[in-house]
Amino acid sequence: MISFALCNPTDIRFGKGQIAALNGLVAPDAVVLLLYGGGSILRNGIEQQVRAALAGRHIVAFGGVEANPTYETLQRATAEGRARGVDLVLGVGGGSVVDAAKFLAAMIAVDENDPWDRFVSGDFPTNTLPVGAVLTLAATGSESNAVSVISSVKRDLKLPFCNERARPRFAILDPSTLVSLSRRQLENGVVDAFTHVLEQYMTWPVNAPVQYGYGETLMRVLVQWGPRLVVEGSSESEEDEARENIMWAANQALNGLLGAGVPQDWSTHMIGHAITAVYGIDHARTLSAVMPSLMRHELHRKKAMLARLGRTVWGIEGQDEEQVAASAIDATEDFFRRMGCPVKPSELGIAFDAEAIIDHLVRAEQVQLGEHGMIGPDDVRHILRTR
Ligand code: NZQ
Ligand code: ZN
Repeated sequence: MISFALCNPTDIRFGKGQIAALNGLVAPDAVVLLLYGGGSILRNGIEQQVRAALAGRHIVAFGGVEANPTYETLQRATAEGRARGVDLVLGVGGGSVVDAAKFLAAMIAVDENDPWDRFVSGDFPTNTLPVGAVLTLAATGSESNAVSVISSVKRDLKLPFCNERARPRFAILDPSTLVSLSRRQLENGVVDAFTHVLEQYMTWPVNAPVQYGYGETLMRVLVQWGPRLVVEGSSESEEDEARENIMWAANQALNGLLGAGVPQDWSTHMIGHAITAVYGIDHARTLSAVMPSLMRHELHRKKAMLARLGRTVWGIEGQDEEQVAASAIDATEDFFRRMGCPVKPSELGIAFDAEAIIDHLVRAEQVQLGEHGMIGPDDVRHILRTR
């Protein structure tokens, strides 16, 4: 028997030209904190479109949110937001900016200047400001979920926070915004979204045919259309279709539906966050480097769903469940490789120290990972030392 509560109030506006819909989504007298990253939206015309759609509103712009956003930058944004009396936080960017917008909405509302520990304990203010998102990078699903992954430079930690009140009220997903992304960011997005599906799927089987069947569809879409986004020689219309399909699939992969009522295993993500915290490597590339090795380590506990993955997504035939499961891992690794991502820690291009990663996991209190809580520091050490 499974049970769940599914809360997803995000109003989605999907399609080319939808940034104009902001005009109907934001109150005419709103004071909007327009949060953005390192400046891509200033160069590719997205900021102009946002300002045009919001004409008449008071806009307070705050740029400089880092890829892997930091708490310290958000402390500065908090001071600005409070001083200017903002009443809506609009994140315009990729997952980092949208995560930051959600966290900032709580920081502005709370009655203190350093609420990190309070937020770590899950105590978010009931008056968290409303959040909206204009997404410019398809990957995280942040535009439809309640999670912010935030790094504190001072504490040397990158942690996920979940604040249901910060889940965006609305999100604009215009696939044409993806045109200016680098090939590397496109690759990253597909691999990140694929991993999100897998971590809500590859545990032990429960009675959730809707979630599993939908997850398999999303994975097949990512496998079919991901390469078309990045391989030379796709026609213009193929590229347009690929951007649409990937943007929608990445949103659906982490909006709460797939994970409803099913056991989940976010250990690849937690180890990946630690790798990013220590070495600054792109989020998705940490996942592709860890996951194949983690799957092999967990083959026996995950055998049934791995075999199902093999049959339904990779078309692997055969009676021997363990063999099909092992082949599913090989096929997943091959897909990550085709998407241009590293498939083992040694391919990350750094002098890799597993102990530094374990130290981060210990300080983040992430030492009982996996759907059974059985992936501890020794297992992580083994997973990371796989060559
Ligand atoms: O900062 P700007 O100048 O905007 O440039 C960004 C950034 O350098 C650039 N970019 C974004 N849209 C662009 C663009 N460049 C050109 N054209 C565009 N249209 O891309 C770079 C990477 O952006 P970022 O937002 O960091 O990427 P992503 O969307 O992959 O987000 C990664 C962050 O999300 C967190 C990760 O940990 C990481 O901090 N995650 C959040 C999750 C969630 N909220 O549920 C789940 C994920 O698993 C993930 O952990
Ligand atoms: Zn991710």
